[in-house]
Amino acid sequence: MSFPITRLRRLRRSKQFRDLVKETQLHTGDLVYPMFVVPGTGVREEIGSMPGIFRRSIDLTVEEVKEARDLGLRAVLLFGIPEEKDDVGSGGYDEDGIVQRALREIKSEIDDVLMITDVCMCEYTSHGHCGIIKDGTVDNDETLTLLAQTSLSHAKAGADMVAPSDMMDGRVGAIREMLDVGGYPDIPIMSYSAKYASAFYGPFRKAADSTPEFGDRRGYQMDPSNVREAIREIELDIEEGADIIMVKPALSYLDVIRAAREEFDHPLAAYNVSGEYSMVKAAGMQGLIDEQRVMMEILTSIKRAGAEIIITYHAKEAAKILGGLD
Ligand code: PBG
Repeated sequence: MSFPITRLRRLRRSKQFRDLVKETQLHTGDLVYPMFVVPGTGVREEIGSMPGIFRRSIDLTVEEVKEARDLGLRAVLLFGIPEEKDDVGSGGYDEDGIVQRALREIKSEIDDVLMITDVCMCEYTSHGHCGIIKDGTVDNDETLTLLAQTSLSHAKAGADMVAPSDMMDGRVGAIREMLDVGGYPDIPIMSYSAKYASAFYGPFRKAADSTPEFGDRRGYQMDPSNVREAIREIELDIEEGADIIMVKPALSYLDVIRAAREEFDHPLAAYNVSGEYSMVKAAGMQGLIDEQRVMMEILTSIKRAGAEIIITYHAKEAAKILGGLD
């Protein structure tokens, strides 16, 4: 039955009606807050390419995790920027590396925020690639052992979950095996399963100083043109033991999120990456958009597309609007 019998505007007449028929409700508990930890003490430097996001030393990272918790956030994704980088990324799997030390400090004071660690080599390698270089290219199989070692060292230091973001083939299986053998069978893996070679990571690479010195990441990250391949990537990660799957970036890949949600029943995360964040900030700072409303609309669209976990630099701002955990 169509107009004039059917009038869809009837249920849009008031906030009460709109709330009653709302299909997608964002919660603070859906959000994961990424943080960058650097050496030193008392360090808090704003990242030029990401207004409102800071690199912090361990002491101030602890304070920031507490602040996030007090806003109702329940999970942090931790990135480390080491003192020194080398060609095998040894800072990444060093028991005394920046992330490992940070985890021990944070865990000694805070036990009600999930600490998730990004597992990759690009923040630790002098060449900025996500693995070991051999014959001018990233060697997949040699990299696996190092990623697994990194994961185990994070678990030992207190990580609640590890999140490999390197896009090597077979890394979820290698990590699962090392965690199990190493005595951490209960630590889940959130895999960056469908991670695209995206220009939206630009601001992050400035933050982590991880721009590849030569070439780019198209030899291991996915081609933005592909969606069927994303399903294959996710399928493999699930077979290898991924507990949570991820699509990254989020905003230009809502169709991939939707496809993944329809295909799989695993918890699905989406990463609202640095470039997506910085565009909103830049336009907001210039008064070109209503920043808060655009932010909430973007986060809601990611959830509507099918992701129940959203990793976002907007986490604190959104939590302030949404309120604490329910
Ligand atoms: C590490 C990693 C990257 C991001 C998350 N983990 C950078 C990259 O792959 O170049 C990007 C995050 C963002 O842009 O917010 N491999």
